[in-house]
Amino acid sequence: MFQIQVKNVSRLCNAKPIVTVNGMFPGPSIYVREGDQVLVNVTNHAQYNMSIHWHDLKQFRNGWADGPAYITQCPIKNGHSYIYNFTVTDQRGTLWWHAHILWLRATVYGAIVIMPKEGTPFPFPQPHRETNIILGEWWNQDVETIVTQANKLGLPPQPSNAHTINGKPGPLFPRSEKHTFAMEVEFGKTYLLRIINAALNDEHFFAIAGHSMTVVEIDAVYTKPFTTKAILIVPGQTTNVLVKADQSPKRYFMAARPFMDAPITVDNKPVTAILQYEGIPNSVLPILPQLPVSNDTKFAMSYNSKLKSLNSPRFPAKVPLQIDRHLFYTIGLGINPCPTCQKGTQVVASLNNITFVMPKIGLLQAHYFDVSGVFRTDFPDKPLAPFNYTGAPLTANLGTAMGTGSVSCLSILQLNWSYKTLIFSAESHPFRLHGFNFFVVGSGIGNFDPKKDPAKFNLVDPPERNTVGVPTGGWTAIRFRADNPGVWFMHCHLELHTTWGLKMAFVVKNGKSAEESVLPPPKDLPPC
Ligand code: C2O
Repeated sequence: MFQIQVKNVSRLCNAKPIVTVNGMFPGPSIYVREGDQVLVNVTNHAQYNMSIHWHDLKQFRNGWADGPAYITQCPIKNGHSYIYNFTVTDQRGTLWWHAHILWLRATVYGAIVIMPKEGTPFPFPQPHRETNIILGEWWNQDVETIVTQANKLGLPPQPSNAHTINGKPGPLFPRSEKHTFAMEVEFGKTYLLRIINAALNDEHFFAIAGHSMTVVEIDAVYTKPFTTKAILIVPGQTTNVLVKADQSPKRYFMAARPFMDAPITVDNKPVTAILQYEGIPNSVLPILPQLPVSNDTKFAMSYNSKLKSLNSPRFPAKVPLQIDRHLFYTIGLGINPCPTCQKGTQVVASLNNITFVMPKIGLLQAHYFDVSGVFRTDFPDKPLAPFNYTGAPLTANLGTAMGTGSVSCLSILQLNWSYKTLIFSAESHPFRLHGFNFFVVGSGIGNFDPKKDPAKFNLVDPPERNTVGVPTGGWTAIRFRADNPGVWFMHCHLELHTTWGLKMAFVVKNGKSAEESVLPPPKDLPPC
């Protein structure tokens, strides 16, 4: 039961009403086992419209349970309920759930832990204990008010006041000692940390003072284990690490700091939590970890290059070797006229120069019931004009076309994104595809070279994930099988950029048989 309700919560000496699930912040963790059927009855008691997304649950043929508002469903209105009904199939590991409407995921989010089938061990040493570490953000004022005002002005909203770990900013922020997450460890034991980046607008480096981490899973897919001092995790992603409590028994900070994001926090301090050895008194001052500096692209590239699918006989990496269709998308940020904005202009973001406009009814409904005119089907497979996206501002390209873009497909796709700089240059973009996992076969800085770069693709054990950071001034190539019929959202997981239109959808057509077709919608699907 998810009761969406408003509750007063205080952080950084500021109390404010926030939207919560069951009065909890962060929301409840969901523990399921591979193969389980999950029913979550969401009842909305808040004044905001609501929809909940089960980030990366595959929802095979069952987009009705996916959750992004106006993509797969209309919102659950105040006083109404909707039951998300899905079965966890062939997935195990750490995922999460979050509100997928407005900026409500600022406070409406939580962990999903999928345990492997009974009797199936992890493909890594069994940890003594495990903990969820959820990175988030906190604003002192009401987030929806801030965003509405910023949109009216046509400006970006103010950044958050603090980052959080499990909803808490940690003791480096004023009067936040009691809002500090702490985990106790026993010397010699190994712990599994399930790290989730639920922040709205910041990619993060995360490290633990004195301890190294062994990465064993990303986005609920096992990886070849490797040891590192810090991890990079972008909004939407999850990373499981093993940590051995083998250092001199003291108190150590775990900390996170943004990587390459424009809107850091107002108060640019790292968020911290505490790893505390058993029996060490709270009066002992913890030690801070060394985190890569915020523009350490070299660390980021090298870290990402170490991520490889486990690709074992039990968990093979089924990388598509042949592709049926090649898509090439450019990510753009630009400025469009906005007659209703105070400045007369607004910031917009685009894929192949098309800025997504939210439809009035769900795209999945429009597709299923054959309602025409809801989305355009002429989304370009490649950029309209050749250009250089390595940093030169393209003033000629500042205006984007507005439209609800979609691409229809039933095939194996290779998608390249590259990032062209229009007005900002500092960010990388965490791209998220609903409905599928994809293989990140290549990535690089500079212009993508269709002649040379594909020869360097990893088609053996590339990382398999659901969100990938596309580097600033660079490119990323992914491959996936479009074998899940329905309508699937693809967007930048920086909420700011989603708001600006950095999104589109894939319409995956039904296959020949009934088993390859979208299931009928549930009776309680919220009406538009
Ligand atoms: Cu966390 Cu649209 O995804």
